[in-house]
Amino acid sequence: MRILAIETSCDETAVSVVDATVRAFHVRSHIISSQIPTHVQYGGVVPEVAARVHVKSIIPTLSYALKKAKTTPKSIDLISVTKGPGLMTSLAVGVQTAAALSYVWKKPLVGVNHIEGHVYSNWVHNPSIKFPALHLIVSGGHTELVLMTGHGKYRLLGKTRDDAAGEAFDKVAKILHLSYPGGPAIQRVALKGDPHAIDFPRPMMNRANYEFSFAGLKTSVLYLTQKHRKLNNKQRADFAASFQQAVVDVLVAKTLRAAKQYRVKSVLLAGGVAANKLLRESLKKTLHTALPKVFFAIPPFDLCTDNATMIAVAGYFNAKRKKLSSWKTIDADPNWELVK
Ligand code: KG4
Ligand code: ZN
Repeated sequence: MRILAIETSCDETAVSVVDATVRAFHVRSHIISSQIPTHVQYGGVVPEVAARVHVKSIIPTLSYALKKAKTTPKSIDLISVTKGPGLMTSLAVGVQTAAALSYVWKKPLVGVNHIEGHVYSNWVHNPSIKFPALHLIVSGGHTELVLMTGHGKYRLLGKTRDDAAGEAFDKVAKILHLSYPGGPAIQRVALKGDPHAIDFPRPMMNRANYEFSFAGLKTSVLYLTQKHRKLNNKQRADFAASFQQAVVDVLVAKTLRAAKQYRVKSVLLAGGVAANKLLRESLKKTLHTALPKVFFAIPPFDLCTDNATMIAVAGYFNAKRKKLSSWKTIDADPNWELVK
């Protein structure tokens, strides 16, 4: 089955063409047109601007993805598109483009949940992951521990009560006068800092639940920086490294506890913050030591942040379960929760 997938939920216009079989996924093209250079001047994503850039980029990105995949519309079997959650005006561009293509090309259409897309980013290179699987989903808008007992069967174990992990990285980067997006900027500056220089709180780490909270940690960074007149490079690096260490410690501790309690066969890390090197290495090391028999996977870097390949794979599993949409009725759903 050849799938054309479109993702425009936030600030990346992404189109992929993926061939799916029962045994493997073959990525024919994976194109991401990033808006980061546009939004960097505002220090974050401006929804109105994002939508306008999606409108301009979607057709060239689509055309390039088809060309790179050496495919014609005739060979496409399914169109998969991110329907939500995300920014309404950004989502609408992808959804309406996919609906138009479905109508004109007479191809089936599937609307995918963006978070389910992140879940399936791990399937691209591991098509037969064993259940129960535990997902730690950490992105700009989400921080969740989700137990997956089969395709489409999810149970929310806990999520953030306030800021998402990626949001905390972005806000702390602003406090430290680092550029947008904050995650990569903090990771870069932290390399020169001491992760134990400042003993930041580890919010909710020892609570017997799977909820998270990062707003207080962000406020601690703010208060402590205000005690300094101006941070020098070493101090900024220490702040970045100590903050990053605190976030990673909490995420790793809660994931390990959930993996043990639910006796999972697989643990999977996904979402933009999964690109964080310290998180990837710490989680891998901790799980390998504590639960050596549990399968652990992290997507390669280009599948962590928003992309359309993960939407193609999620669309494949949804279509297999006959969860198709119609071009007549599909609509963007900015608040669609995968599990409540
Ligand atoms: O999944 P994603 O691309 O978009 C959403 O669905 O939100 O995630 C974007 C988030 C941003 O908050 C960004 O700062 C964070 O992922 N991020 C990182 C890293 N790379 C991206 N956070 C920490 N370390 C990184 N290396
Ligand atoms: Zn995302």
